[in-house]
Amino acid sequence: MKKNYQLPDPKAERNRRNEARRVDFCLEDDLRTLGIGKTYYIRTYGCQANVRDSETLAGMLEMMGFNPVASPEEADISLFNTCAVRKAAEDHVLGEIGSLKPLKQAHPEKIFGICGCMAQEESMVALVSERYPQVDLLFGTHNMEQFPHLLSRVMAGERTIQVESEGSGSVVEGMPVERSRHYKAFVNIMYGCDKFCTYCIVPYTRGKERSRRSEDVIREILAVKAQGAKEVTLLGQNVNAYGKDLGMEDGFSELLREAADTGIERIRFYTSHPRDYRESTIDVMVEHPNVMPALHLPVQSGSDEILKRMNRGYTSSQFLTLYERMKEKIPGITFTTDLIVGFPSETDAQFEETLSLVDHCQFDSAFTFVYSPREGTPAASFEDNVPLAVKKQRLAQLNERVGNYARRNNEAEVGQIRKVLCDGASKKDPSVLCGYSEENRLVNFHSDTAREGDVVNVKITEARSFSLLGEAV
Ligand code: SAH
Ligand code: SF4
Ligand code: F3S
Repeated sequence: MKKNYQLPDPKAERNRRNEARRVDFCLEDDLRTLGIGKTYYIRTYGCQANVRDSETLAGMLEMMGFNPVASPEEADISLFNTCAVRKAAEDHVLGEIGSLKPLKQAHPEKIFGICGCMAQEESMVALVSERYPQVDLLFGTHNMEQFPHLLSRVMAGERTIQVESEGSGSVVEGMPVERSRHYKAFVNIMYGCDKFCTYCIVPYTRGKERSRRSEDVIREILAVKAQGAKEVTLLGQNVNAYGKDLGMEDGFSELLREAADTGIERIRFYTSHPRDYRESTIDVMVEHPNVMPALHLPVQSGSDEILKRMNRGYTSSQFLTLYERMKEKIPGITFTTDLIVGFPSETDAQFEETLSLVDHCQFDSAFTFVYSPREGTPAASFEDNVPLAVKKQRLAQLNERVGNYARRNNEAEVGQIRKVLCDGASKKDPSVLCGYSEENRLVNFHSDTAREGDVVNVKITEARSFSLLGEAV
């Protein structure tokens, strides 16, 4: 007998998965007055995901009536939004939290909270409760929406140390946000990471990939645009995997196209993963001039053997093919990257392969790191057999190489006119304005009329190692 198979409707299936996980944020009336007359301070470490989370935490605190202040000394509640990506990052946070002890002793009524990626590590609960009595509250990235409730419990006298290693898998919409700049907005498109690079703690601290519905993303872009935003940066640990968890075939290219079609002046996205990068995404970049010609594409290593042991899922030649393809199709595109030296078993010859890749790609800049073993990741059990002195020497050599290309690329900019989105006065030298060009180069410039948030034509007059100098024209 002939069977009557019914194919599932992919769109209906996607909607079902979307709806099952989507939760609306809601703040009860009694929590809306909790912070009236009180103040808050947030210190943020780590990547853009944390910067965006801090904007949500600030939004929740302001919804509760708290007002911002500039230091823990002035604040009734201080939050430390932490990063766990390398040991040095953790040690830095623990040092700063340790130094709060006298302040807590003098003012026991002040509340100190740790959140973010370190707070998602189970070992942190024991460490904090034993060694850091000044901390009242610990909550991870998976339960940020519970923060107002946790805070109300602490304010009622409870010491709430909580960590949930398992997230609910939900995507919470409608959380308030207090953005640090009105003309530039970070917009999350997805949370978590499923890549499990063997050195990396992020899949454990941020959980599985969960994509937001494209409708929610686009609504947020339209809202910030209506409020005057000129630039949005779409955020995810691996944006190219957007929508996979919802059963979408080519989710990121579709979303990027829709985002570009909102007409916002500038779109960036961060971070890309070479493994999931599709030709169709390159096409969207080609077709939409408001998708900026600047790409952060972490390569990590130039050695195929190391890339394999890192579980990156591409070879150096596959990376180079993607790189060449983009350079060919998007004239003037600039590249930045992340590189790790001293991964377990990395030989001199394998490190040389990384240098060769840098020579080939001549990145505009690169974040370079010495490998740091992270408890619970696969690489932590690999024998860490590269001596520290060798790691440091490789890092210095790599930085010199990267710096040379950065300077050369900057020198080639002299005489060009670039469109710069003005960030106001430079922090290092308040006599000049600063901002980023479309190609994502830092430009310091003189202008009598430009203001924060303006897009200004700047003629580049001088190249420095990590920035350009110019005059508004
Ligand atoms: N999702 C992004 C990056 C997240 S972490 C991506 O996949 O590219 C940012 C960078 O930190 C990584 O690209 C990597 O270069 C570095 N990093 C991560 N774990 C590390 C570790 N254990 N030791 C040294 N560097 C690390
Ligand atoms: Fe970490 Fe790899 Fe995921 Fe990036 S893609 S967050 S490096 S596991
Ligand atoms: Fe750090 Fe967490 Fe970002 S570990 S790099 S803050 S995702």
